Amino acid sequence: MFESFPERAVVYEVGPRDGLQNEAAQIPTERKLALIAALAKAGLQRIEVTSFVSPRWIPQLADAEQVVAALPRSPEVVYSALVPNEQGLQRSIDAGLSEAAFFLSSSESHSKKNINKSVAEAVALYTKLAKKALAAGLKVRAYVSTVWGCPYEGEVPLERSVELARRMVDLGCYQVSLGDTIGVGTPVQTRAVLEGMLARLPAAQLAMHMHDTRGTALANVLVGLSMGITTFDASVGGLGGCPYAPGAAGNLATEDLVYMLQGMGIETGVDLELLVEAGQLAQEAVGRELPGKYLKAASGARQKKAVPGQT
Ligand code: HMG
Ligand code: MG
Repeated sequence: MFESFPERAVVYEVGPRDGLQNEAAQIPTERKLALIAALAKAGLQRIEVTSFVSPRWIPQLADAEQVVAALPRSPEVVYSALVPNEQGLQRSIDAGLSEAAFFLSSSESHSKKNINKSVAEAVALYTKLAKKALAAGLKVRAYVSTVWGCPYEGEVPLERSVELARRMVDLGCYQVSLGDTIGVGTPVQTRAVLEGMLARLPAAQLAMHMHDTRGTALANVLVGLSMGITTFDASVGGLGGCPYAPGAAGNLATEDLVYMLQGMGIETGVDLELLVEAGQLAQEAVGRELPGKYLKAASGARQKKAVPGQT
């Protein structure tokens, strides 16, 4: 297992979207923008910044247009946003984003609760939307949720997730991010999930999106790395949760992921010190301490240094 790690990995930051979507108190747009700017400054080149979903379903992201209009533009950074339907896609095109992210579930109850559609309806819709998005020159990423388990149905047959992932790639999505939406996955299960996926899809077209509800996200990432996966979603400070997956915690914290990758000699292009500064901004934005381990350790060390007489 410790012989075949990649030289570099892509860290796909989802904090401003997946992280913030669950926050009850409205965060001012300027704070979101400051956080995104800090993440870009830390070297993150893939940032999911918001969602063009119904503001009634996700009030926190009702300012999607304002966020996108004021993004700090840089040729190195690709911004994306979730798109759930035709209206969302049009909003995303009008806002001028170059990448859209489709999302669907492999379990019926989560699908219904999250996007008010059956899985088959979602597939039919995205089949139509993919054509339009690609014709408009967008790149499209897709999420398949509840691959490791569903908050309403429990275990989900792997074949269903594999079929959906394959389908999304066939529609022209350049990558499918596999969601452990409620953070139940463990390493042996992850190996089985990835074996199933890799039998039908190349590793480069897969990403892992692990929520860290039970503390197993990094262990699962390690399995992914050893099996050739090189893109990992993460959320600054471990911010977040899914409003339609009760009990789900935030994503794997970006700092924890970057720390582990760097320690293993895997290049990410991310500056951990600057990432901690972004984490501190995220904490200020939500008004509480975030669960990310590295962020806690680094913030503690900084505070100690700031107190005279302590080392
Ligand atoms: P619906 O109620 O069935 O929508 O919701 P509708 O088409 O019947 O429209 C109802 C109203 O919503 C209409 O307004 C539409 O205009 C409006 P009215 O005429 O009543 O005033 N509407 C919109 N407004 C703005 N933008 C839009 C839009 N669409 C409709 N795009 C819908 C269906 C899909 C819209 C809704 O269910 C929705 O927005 N769901 C998104 C929920 C969400 O964002 N969940 C969290 C993200 S998923 C996740 O976190 C998992 C992931 O991280 C991976 C993982 O962890 O596994 C990705
Ligand atoms: Mg998620």
